Amino acid sequence: MPKVTFINPDESRVELDVPVGTSLMRAATAHGIEGIVGDCGGGLTCATCHVLVEETFLPDTPPITPNEEQMLDFTAMGRQPNSRLSCQLVMTEALDGLVVRIADPQL
Ligand code: FES
Repeated sequence: MPKVTFINPDESRVELDVPVGTSLMRAATAHGIEGIVGDCGGGLTCATCHVLVEETFLPDTPPITPNEEQMLDFTAMGRQPNSRLSCQLVMTEALDGLVVRIADPQL
């Protein structure tokens, strides 16, 4: 199963097995990763699932939809060049080994 490493704001790391087809937000909240809030449940209305994707993986991530594009402007941390909303990052085999930094703050 593909693995994803989440880097917490305190620099601690959590590695999760994430099934293909599952969003990073769902995987993180299911495993109690506190930095991923996911208030809207993946409906693209909260921007509390903000992560920064390690640059080498950016080409393998799905394209940013117009709705995600809009919501990235409402992140509490502020948008970075490698910002994504983790509810929109659905796991694929190509993303095995993905590393994301959890945005701080989320709210
Ligand atoms: S969970 Fe709300 S925008 Fe991602």
